[in-house]
Amino acid sequence: RATAGRRVSELVRDVPDFPKAGVTYKDITPLIAHGDSLRLVVDALAAPYQDRGVDHVIGLEARGFIFGTGVALALGAGFVPIRKKGKLPPRTVSLDYELEYGSATIELREDSLRPGDRVLVIDDILATGGTARAAAELVESQGAQIVGLDVVLELRDLGGRGELPGRSVGALVSV
Ligand code: PRP
Ligand code: MG
Repeated sequence: RATAGRRVSELVRDVPDFPKAGVTYKDITPLIAHGDSLRLVVDALAAPYQDRGVDHVIGLEARGFIFGTGVALALGAGFVPIRKKGKLPPRTVSLDYELEYGSATIELREDSLRPGDRVLVIDDILATGGTARAAAELVESQGAQIVGLDVVLELRDLGGRGELPGRSVGALVSV
């Protein structure tokens, strides 16, 4: 896990003023372009959940799909996408939320989770926590249970963790 964390610190690139002025974009593409780094990070995310009875890994569109699919494979769990509005066929349940830049709506297929399902939510970055919070609420609205909510990189100053009270939040790196 420490090795994975170092790799994240080395390879996630800061891009100032993208996608708009004042926002620093965290670019994970250099990290996932290396096979050994991708493997390290996916395995480190999955490790705490090996014996936790995870039924589904939820990945948050788009960057959460990359890591979430890998974690699902590592755990032998299924993968369930939470997508941005209009991408999933009916019927869906949806939730509006505020982003660090702008606002958005996310959706989940209505029949993709059952009450009592044990779910791990995976994304790349925890910033303001708006995305993760909306995802958590959507998952819980289906009666499923969130075993954990893990990200590659947490930006602590933006307070995302505070948006997720009562849930187990993990991050490979917190800066
Ligand atoms: C980014 C990032 C996280 C989210 C974190 O996604 O991938 O999902 O923002 O920010 P928050 O904690 O303030 O909600 P974004 O919606 O930019 O799009 P992408 O994953 O499709 O690139
Ligand atoms: Mg995202």
